[in-house]
Amino acid sequence: MDKHLITGGVSLQGEVRISGAKNSVLPILAGCLLTDQRVIIKNVPHLNDVTTIMKLLGQMGAKLTISEGLTIEVEAGGVDNPNAPYELVRTMRASILVLGPLLAKHGRATVSLPGGCAIGPRPVDFHVQGLAKMGAEITVEGGYIQAQVKGGLKGAHIKFDIVSVTGTENLMMAAALAKGTTIIENAAREPEVQDLANFLNTLGANIQGHGTDTIVIEGVKALSGGTYTVLPDRVETGTYLVAAAMTGGRIVTKSTKGNLLEAVLQKLEEAGADISLGEDWISLDMRGNRPKAVDIQTAPFPGFPTDMQAQFMALNTIAIGKGTLVETVFENRFMHAHELRRMGANIQLNGNTAFIEGNSNLNAAPVMATDLRASASLVLAGLVAKGTTIVDRIYHIDRGYECIEEKLAQLGAIIKRVAA
Ligand code: UD1
Repeated sequence: MDKHLITGGVSLQGEVRISGAKNSVLPILAGCLLTDQRVIIKNVPHLNDVTTIMKLLGQMGAKLTISEGLTIEVEAGGVDNPNAPYELVRTMRASILVLGPLLAKHGRATVSLPGGCAIGPRPVDFHVQGLAKMGAEITVEGGYIQAQVKGGLKGAHIKFDIVSVTGTENLMMAAALAKGTTIIENAAREPEVQDLANFLNTLGANIQGHGTDTIVIEGVKALSGGTYTVLPDRVETGTYLVAAAMTGGRIVTKSTKGNLLEAVLQKLEEAGADISLGEDWISLDMRGNRPKAVDIQTAPFPGFPTDMQAQFMALNTIAIGKGTLVETVFENRFMHAHELRRMGANIQLNGNTAFIEGNSNLNAAPVMATDLRASASLVLAGLVAKGTTIVDRIYHIDRGYECIEEKLAQLGAIIKRVAA
């Protein structure tokens, strides 16, 4: 297993290009299953999760071509095997996103249950209940969701108890080809949900209200082909900005947008950073200062994203003062706290709350990545720790950060990848 070796102490300076959003491109690629015609997706990040969903679509019978690095062409007209096997689903929960499109287009699907993951049980009951409301017969046997619908899905009125990102996306895709109108209440408002809706509308879907908590989908008979450019990755953007803030640096993130991460930028300003925004860039200047500790409570968009919680925990560990983090979205998303403590961080946990007292010194240690964003927090800690930190199991990072060591090295960090 590859490891990262990071020698701390360099203040990050320079420019970094932000990639397309992982959490947009995965549902968009799943959405390609809704049409027989050719779809061209641009600004695709080169990530292990993208490879996984491409494998998944490929084994179903879709034709995928990678052209010019960041572009993928998909033709799903040949799909004849609407199944998502455990071997692929277990490595990536987002595989559940094929369920809605397969059912809507082919009338049947067999998709492995994703099961739990390191950050909590993460059930998919909302996805299943919503599709059942649209007329699907669904059973769960032997770890697989078996779904079928006779005569096509029908529009339905669906209300989520808790805001669910992939739940909203799965039902929105299913509803795009259902008969009649579907209303999703308490829908997720995340930019990636909006990106998926805009993509589907480009192919001829009739979706309105995306970006609000009520999405209305008027089903259409068929979707066409089209070309679509994926949104910038707001979590990748935020991660580099936190890295700069922790190291007292000054960086510009390019090909990204400030309105995707206002809650994060606000916390960086509270931490003492000067932030400037342009049409497609965000700059952060820390003027060599140590950040001030910040209090954070995660919440669905437009609240503070749970996918940035671990990075801000790393920031608080070296900040001036005390910060409190409350995680309201997932039950068990503090695994990074135990690894950060091994580097000298002062963190107390109590249920879904972490109390962090900043100190000016972290010390390098061998640490282990446990999930995607937890891994990012360990890399950030390594950038400021005294000595050389070894982060093991970085396959988690490769799921969601394109070329992270190249991008950090470009900003001056001393980081390399070694094969175990
Ligand atoms: C998505 C993101 C993930 C992000 C999360 C929250 C993708 C591929 N992943 O994950 O990066 O951390 O949103 O912003 O976009 N829940 C249920 N039943 C369900 C579905 C969800 O109880 O059927 C609960 C979950 O356990 C969790 C909450 O709802 O407590 C929110 O989860 P959800 O938004 O669905 O997360 P994901 O879509 O899996």
